[in-house]
Amino acid sequence: MPDMTKTKEDYAALMARINNRAGVKELAAYLEKHGFFTAPASTKYHLCIEGGLLIHSVNVAKLALELKEKLMPDKSEESIILCALFHDAHKVTDGFNHNTYDKNTTATSDKQPYFWNTKQLGYGGGHKSALIVSKFVDLTQDELQAIAYHDGPFVPAWEDIKSDPYPLTLMLHYADMWSTFVVEKPRNRNYTAKFVEDTKTELF
Ligand SMILES: [Fe+2]
Repeated sequence: MPDMTKTKEDYAALMARINNRAGVKELAAYLEKHGFFTAPASTKYHLCIEGGLLIHSVNVAKLALELKEKLMPDKSEESIILCALFHDAHKVTDGFNHNTYDKNTTATSDKQPYFWNTKQLGYGGGHKSALIVSKFVDLTQDELQAIAYHDGPFVPAWEDIKSDPYPLTLMLHYADMWSTFVVEKPRNRNYTAKFVEDTKTELF
């Protein structure tokens, strides 16, 4: 079980860096009330554990801030933190009082720990996050797109914007993927940043 105390401290420190966006505290309170601190990040992939979503959201925010320094130095730090921390708000609730994940109470350790709640609103995950966040916070166009399309080409909705993604959309997608597959390591993968070097063999 990961150290949630440290994760919650990191989350609070990130939140404290957002001072000029109305509604963010209310958004956070709403999500916390519905289980932001206890929800998993997935049913059976990365961080499918209690608190996994908070760990993932903090990971994405930290990496996105690092990428911002290099790729988007003029972009507001508050904008990056807001989008990164809450890009997966839909993994808490659909905004209509349905939780996203149900615990699999019959699971043994090798079965999936959570199920997708089929009662929730049928609506794309990223779009659901954008819907929830924008109920509380006025988003800019690039923030709205970045949250709604953060899954990138992993979902068919990418077709909508594939010829015109905003820089923030691409950056958030990358931070999300790197966090998921390299930092958090889904159960069936164990990549590290040295993966290719460590496994290099003769091709022929
Ligand atoms: Fe994510």
